[in-house]
Parts: sequence; C-alpha cells; structure tokens
Amino acid sequence: MDHFNYRNHELYCEDVRVADLAARYGTPLYIYSKATITHHLDTLNKAFKTLNPLVCYSVKANSNLGILKVVGEHGDGFDVVSGGELGRVLKAGGTADRTVFAGVGKTDPEIAAAIQAGVLMFNVESEEELAAINRVAESLGKVAPVALRVNPDVDPKTHRYISTGKKESKFGMDIDRSLRLAQEAVHMKHITMIGMHMHIGSQITTVEPYGHAAEKGVEIIGQLRAMGHPIKWYNMGGGFGIAYRGGEAKAIKAFAEVIVPKVATTGCRLAMEPGRVVVGNAGILVSQVIFTKKSGDKRFLIQDAAMNDLIRPSLYEAFHRIWPVHVAEGLACPPENYESEIPGTETWDIVGPVCESGDFLAKDRHLPRLATGDLLATFSAGAYGMVMASNYNTRPRAAEILVSGDKAQLVRRRETFEDLVGPELIALD
Ligand code: LLP
Repeated sequence: MDHFNYRNHELYCEDVRVADLAARYGTPLYIYSKATITHHLDTLNKAFKTLNPLVCYSVKANSNLGILKVVGEHGDGFDVVSGGELGRVLKAGGTADRTVFAGVGKTDPEIAAAIQAGVLMFNVESEEELAAINRVAESLGKVAPVALRVNPDVDPKTHRYISTGKKESKFGMDIDRSLRLAQEAVHMKHITMIGMHMHIGSQITTVEPYGHAAEKGVEIIGQLRAMGHPIKWYNMGGGFGIAYRGGEAKAIKAFAEVIVPKVATTGCRLAMEPGRVVVGNAGILVSQVIFTKKSGDKRFLIQDAAMNDLIRPSLYEAFHRIWPVHVAEGLACPPENYESEIPGTETWDIVGPVCESGDFLAKDRHLPRLATGDLLATFSAGAYGMVMASNYNTRPRAAEILVSGDKAQLVRRRETFEDLVGPELIALD
C-alpha cells in the first residue's frame, strides 16, 4: 500500500496535490509520503513480532535526515555503512545502540567513531577487519560487539549488480572461513561475538532464497555457540523486493512465514536491514516536459529529470512506472499493465538532458499524449534514487519534500550553482 493516488484526474501524495508542490518547489522534485514509510515499518515489526525484531532501516536506501527522523521516532533502528551514515543517524536523533555498522572497508577512524558512539554491533566482513576492530577497541580500552557476516552461497535470483550472497561476491566470508575466524576470535579480548549476519541481495521477490539462507544460518549459530560465542542476534540483512511494475513482489508476511519458524529455533532476537521495502514505494520523482521530439520512428519526451537524478534505469535497466501528474478523463491512473498497448497512448522514450545515450528513465513506454510543460511522475523512486544522484553535467540535485497528511515539508532544498562550485579551490582572478 502506498499513498500516491489520483483524485479527479490529479495525482496526490497523501492529501497534497503533487502539481501544487511542483509549482511551489520546481522540478525535478522528490516527494515522499510519511504514512507509507510508517506503514511499511509497522508491517515489518508485526510480521516478525514473535522474534522480538529490531528493524534496522538501511540508511543507504534514502539517507535524508527527514526520513531518518521518521524512522527513529517510529522506534526503529538503523543499518549504516560509513562514518557519514552513522553521523546522519545521530544527527537525526537516532540512537547508536539500535544501529548496526556494515560494509567491507571500514577505516580505523570509522571503527573508532562507531565504538565511541556505542553501536549495537559491527557486521564483520573479513579476517583483517575483525583484527582491526579488536585493535582499535583495545586502544580505546573497550570491547566491541560484533556479528560475523557469513556468505551462505545462496542465489537470490535478482539483478547481478545487487546479488551479494553468492560465494564469488566481495561481501562477507564463506562458511568455512567464517568458522575458522570465529575459532580464532575466541581468543580476542576486545571483541564479543554476539551475532551472525547474512545479507543475500536486494530486490528479492521470491521467498525460497531466504529459506535456504536461514537453514544455513541456524546451523552456523549452533557452531558459533559451541565455540563459546554468546550469540544473541540473528541478523538476516535486507533485500525484500517491491512492486515496481505491480504485483511482482511477495508480501512481507510471506517472507516472514518462511524465516520466522527457522530463526525461532535459535532463540535469537532478529535484526533486519530493510531499505527498499521501507522507502521504495514511498517516493516519487516529479519532472516536467521540456521538449518533445521525433527522430525516425522514435518519439522522445525530453524532461528535466535525468540519469543524474535517478540512475536506476541507466545502471540496472530498472523499470519504474511513469505516468502524467494530470490525467485526461477516461484514462486509467496509472494502468495495471504497461506491457501491452494502452488505448489512447503513444510510445515514447522518456529521456533527460544529460549528454549520454544511456540517459533515460524509460524506453518504448506507452503514455498519453503529452506536451511541453506537462508534469510526469516516476513511481517507486524513494529508494536508491536521491542517494545515488550526482552533479554530472553540472546539474544541481533536486529538492526533496516529505508529506504527512495535508502538510508538506521541504526536507532538502534544491542545490544552487554556488553549492556545486563552492568546494573548488582554483583562484580565477
Ligand atoms: N544490508 C546490506 C548489508 C546491504 O548491502 C543492503 C543493500 C541492505 C541491507 C538493504 O537492502 P534492501 O532492503 O534495500 O534491498 N542501488 C541498488 C541496490 C543496492 C543495494 C545495496 N545493499 C538499486 O538501486 O537497486
């Protein structure tokens, strides 16, 4: 469920007219729905309730301070992968003791900052990293809580760029190595191994990979405990897929039905690191048509959002629903099925102004007739949208709005030219 709906042919985010926000704040514009975010957080907490879960929202999906504040106030935790992300969590009022720290390349200063802040645990991805954490903790006179990130060699059946659980991936350690390291860790005085972590990939739309991973995870926890490690946390990572087209993703409940009974046998608390499923369908990217253009048989809709604003279509050939903000009478809003001809539509490539052939939001897409000045909404843009935006072609990044009911708050102003050139140091006079 999300809160982007058409009323009288006009797109609304909760009770706010999207066209009004575009007029006030300009385009391209990211708009997020708070009610959608809290709905997803509620659904996750409820589905895994029997495992006393800690939902650690994966900050990388959308790290806007306004979004982090919503998650923190909801009572949930965070998954961070850098000192910067940890800084954001703390700034937004989140607490370190509900925050897990993952990532393959943590530096000494980042490790020290996380220990000082008092993170719940480090997800450790290699032998050298565990040694570094032990060493830094010793220098601070502390004992650092850790979870080993085990790579269960499960195929999550997702895009190869976002698959992480197979053994050829750079993430985690295979089971044998993990167990060997755990054995060595028994003698490390400045770490305490309280968890086991697995993250097998992202945009996973079937439950089976989680079932296979959990079976292996349960066994590994038994072995870690047999060595004497006080394992209290089963961290299953993130990865729940969402419906980009409509209907392709499993409900959270379906994942829980596979995972809960297995993890329950360990007596562990469940930590999870959902990102996309929390914010993905809670955000849209609004853009405005600059020009329309024909070339051969192709029709191009050149609008002001580009690959620097939302790179997912260019990078992963990802599909995002796109539909006008104002829809003519008689047209579905938006259609259920984009693959077949939709009466009253034409076929367009929706592209941006960036000078790359790979700069597109959609190709061969059926859309109602549109003209210069019309507004478009690109749906499911709340996760891995703004966080992956860049200034390529010296394009200032978009503004971001958080809507709650009939209130809209600017949570990031549009960048200016000065913001872009400010850090550059060459003397020009
Ligand atoms: N935990 C770990 C260790 C991760 O690496 C990730 C995502 C998550 C949790 C959150 O996964 P989620 O629940 O959002 O699937 N930019 C790509 C996705 C990259 C995912 C990276 N890791 C995209 O736009 O599809």
